[in-house]
Amino acid sequence: MDTFGFVIHPLDMNDVIRFDPKAEGKRIELVSKVLEWMPANNQSHITGIRSKTGKEIHGYFLAASFLPHQFIQLPREKVYQKIINAGKIAESLGAKIIGLGGFTSVVGDAGHTIAENLNIAVTSGSSYTIATALEGTLAAARAMEIDPKEATATVVGATGSIGRVCAQLLSREVESLTITARSLSRLKTVAEAVHEFSGKRPRVTTDLHSALLGADIVISASSSGGGIIKPISLRSGAVVCDVALPHDCSREVADMRDDVLVIEGGLVEVPGPVHFGTNFGYPPRIALACMAETMILTLEGRFENYSLGRRIEIEKVMEIQHLAQKHGFKLAGFRSFNAPVTQEQIEMIKGNVKQLRQKSKISIS
Ligand SMILES: NC(=O)c1ccc[n+]([C@@H]2O[C@H](COP(=O)([O-])OP(=O)(O)OC[C@H]3O[C@@H](n4cnc5c(N)ncnc54)[C@H](OP(=O)(O)O)[C@@H]3O)[C@@H](O)[C@H]2O)c1
Repeated sequence: MDTFGFVIHPLDMNDVIRFDPKAEGKRIELVSKVLEWMPANNQSHITGIRSKTGKEIHGYFLAASFLPHQFIQLPREKVYQKIINAGKIAESLGAKIIGLGGFTSVVGDAGHTIAENLNIAVTSGSSYTIATALEGTLAAARAMEIDPKEATATVVGATGSIGRVCAQLLSREVESLTITARSLSRLKTVAEAVHEFSGKRPRVTTDLHSALLGADIVISASSSGGGIIKPISLRSGAVVCDVALPHDCSREVADMRDDVLVIEGGLVEVPGPVHFGTNFGYPPRIALACMAETMILTLEGRFENYSLGRRIEIEKVMEIQHLAQKHGFKLAGFRSFNAPVTQEQIEMIKGNVKQLRQKSKISIS
């Protein structure tokens, strides 16, 4: 049976506590220091992934435990070394490919250095993450009765591996597009790539608030470390697909905006009686798209560096989506702020939007 590895890390203190309840009540500085010295390790055995074709595979979660800010702030070599060590453990367990979860694919050159230092294939999982983000966004827009052809859209983190291709693909679906991140020069390069792909010229801005204000549809895929989208920036009736981990949408959006639909991007139902051997915070059988990409490549016997670096090929996004269907992977139902989104909730959001629009008409007249 073919074997894969997938590198994980805690996204926040809640994750740390879920893995080790003794961390409850400890200061983040202390926990960060402990994580800094914790070696890479084998976290759990993943069993029961069974394709529609009948093929079965298994894998391992390897922990390269740093918190998101440590991936950014610690010396690059130290961070790379822990991820490489996790990859070496996967190699010794018989894995032929490893996937890079969360910030392990964001750091530095997005997987190239890791791949150069291992004898097995490496993928960031970005291709399938992009495919599912697009699919989920358009499904959520339909649920909110937004016609993409008449909609304005924004991609946050548009210069990144995921954001760049999301911007290209989304530009074909919508009336107009805004792209945003912190570096204006990189945004201009992405704007050219979008224009080349769809013939549309996106608006470019580094001002996140203004980028979001007019958007009916938002895909957010920044590596900010979370919480950059505030309630005040979102248009009433907007749909936000939050692909970022930790999530870009702040908790206050859930608390204060009952007239927008926020969904978590990149969540996938895995075929077969899968058992992850650990609780990473999702319901049974639900995995992140980046994990699913690693599984799909293993089922296909495609032990190659598939999604690496910040220039993800659109052809690969199409291909992995096709392979996902072949093996029975499919988009999970909508989830928002760690809970499922029901049809009743969507109806309530739509009702709130209608009421707010009626009120604003009355106050104008
Ligand atoms: N759901 C899933 O299955 C899944 C899978 C893989 C990755 N992810 C998550 O998706 C996100 C993007 O991953 P990636 O590989 O595309 O990362 P990436 O290549 O590093 O891109 C990150 C993007 O975010 C922008 N950015 C960073 N900080 C920002 C801030 N404070 N405000 C606005 N923009 C900011 C960066 O541009 P500037 O530096 O110019 O601002 C860049 O455009 C990460 O959060 C990652 O953990 C999710």
